[in-house]
Parts: sequence; structure tokens; C-alpha cells
Amino acid sequence: MDGNIVLVGFMGAGKSSVGRLLARRLGRCLVETDDMITAAEGRSIPEIFAAEGEAYFRAAEDEVLRLLALKRGEVIATGGGLPCREGRAEALRALGTVVWLSADFETLYERALRGGERPMLAGRTRDDVRALYRSREPFYARAAFTVDTTSLGPDQVAARIAGVLRSRDRQTFEGAVQAPSE
Ligand code: S3P
Repeated sequence: MDGNIVLVGFMGAGKSSVGRLLARRLGRCLVETDDMITAAEGRSIPEIFAAEGEAYFRAAEDEVLRLLALKRGEVIATGGGLPCREGRAEALRALGTVVWLSADFETLYERALRGGERPMLAGRTRDDVRALYRSREPFYARAAFTVDTTSLGPDQVAARIAGVLRSRDRQTFEGAVQAPSE
């Protein structure tokens, strides 16, 4: 299959861990947009935010999107803010099947706090982060399909995504087989 699978969602959605497991299940490679940025910059995401600010980081995401256009058949885990700008939903859709890993806000927030340093959480109250989440939801909702991860482990989420992709491929195949006799 040529198309990539693109995982989107807020911080704490599990994009990296699900991406790793999904890639293994499907025999694909995992590409992480944040890793592409840190590799190109030679410094960590918190260092980039501290030294250059958010606008610089978002411009680096644009460059990553241009490079991703060369990828085929990969699993792509995106940073939580990447889909949330004008034109980005279209750019992601052009890369492949976009999957939103959703969850209750409280679950996402607790997971995100546990999972290492995140510049978008620094200096923000829980209410600030909730407002950020609400403002981003409409962008995530443009995905092809959604998996609610609130009460699922990463492997269960990966299994659900693989299941949806399998049944979609089966339908496409059956449609193609039936088409000539119609
Ligand atoms: C960001 C999320 C981070 C990372 C950067 C900005 C955001 O990725 O891209 O710190 O704006 O939500 P994760 O979603 O993997 O934490």
C-alpha cells in the first residue's frame, strides 16, 4: 500500500507509542515529525522553543510537511500542534489516511504531564491547556477516522487502527472485484 498512515491528536494521545506498535504490526517504518525537527536542528524541542519561540518551531513543521511528501507507506506520528493551522489538514490528507487519537481532556492532560518536558504546557494552567485543546479539536476532527483512546492501551489502539484499515482495504478490494459485473 502506497499511502501513509498519519496519526494526529493532542499531547498525551499516545501518537508515538501507538505509532511504534502500529508500524511493527503493519511491517512499516515509523516517522515522527518532532524527531525530524530535532534531527535537523541538532537540539531538543524544549531548546528550540526556549531559544527561538513557537513561530520558529511552526515554520520548522512546514518544512517537515514538505519533506514528508516524499514518503510512501510509512506510519507518521505528528506533533500535537502540527495539524492545527490553516492548510495543514489538506497537506496531511495528501500524505495518506489521517487518524485522530482522541481522549477525554482530563486523561490527555494527566498523560501529557507525566510524559516529559512539553513546552506548550509550561506556564499554562489546566484551564489554559483545556482552552488550547478545545481550539484544536476542529482540526483533529478532520481526520478520516477517530479512535477514542481514553480507556485503551497503546497496543489496543494500534489493533483498532489496523482493524479499520483491513476492513477498508477489504471493501475496496470487493468493490473492485464487483465493479465489472455491475
Ligand atoms: C506540541 C506538541 C509536541 C511537540 C511540541 C508542540 C503542541 O508533540 O510537537 O512540543 O503544540 O501540542 P506531542 O504531541 O508529541 O507532545
